[in-house]
Amino acid sequence: MSCSRLQLTLAILKPDVTARPHIVKEIKSMILRKKFYFVESKKMKLAQSEIETFYKEHEGKFFHNRLVNFMNSGSIWAHILAREDCIKEWRKLMGPTKVLKTVFEEPNSIRGKFGLTDTRNCTHGSDSEETAKREIKLFFPEFDEEKWRANDEDYFI
Ligand code: TYD
Ligand code: MG
Repeated sequence: MSCSRLQLTLAILKPDVTARPHIVKEIKSMILRKKFYFVESKKMKLAQSEIETFYKEHEGKFFHNRLVNFMNSGSIWAHILAREDCIKEWRKLMGPTKVLKTVFEEPNSIRGKFGLTDTRNCTHGSDSEETAKREIKLFFPEFDEEKWRANDEDYFI
């Protein structure tokens, strides 16, 4: 069997989450309950320049400085997740970006349960296949997708 039907995404648990270890555990359980696979995981502290590259699309927006300072304030968990329809499903589990919308519309999403503000909103998820490829490369330069797809036994036992 092939895992070609599995899509990959980059998922990040941001510094507001890593500062609350019991929430890290709860979020990882939520991820497993929704049938995502953890393909790669690492805890890391990003350099300011890496944060700026990662969030280049938001340069000049009113929240950019706040976002960069926040991402610089602690360590993060970076994960490659796999699932069918992974990009959409992970963003659904994360919930909407803005905290008020999450509380009223998606209270059981990760951001609905644990989000603090529009900036301190727990998680990141790639927004398209193209973005996922670029972001995975940025965080896991050694990850070889082709090789991973050729070794799929672990995912179909
Ligand atoms: P964005 O890509 O719009 O949201 P998402 O993370 O849901 O893809 O924005 C990136 C991050 O920028 C967002 O997770 C938190 C921060 N941000 C703010 O701090 N304030 C805001 O009003 C917005 C839209 C984003
Ligand atoms: Mg985004």
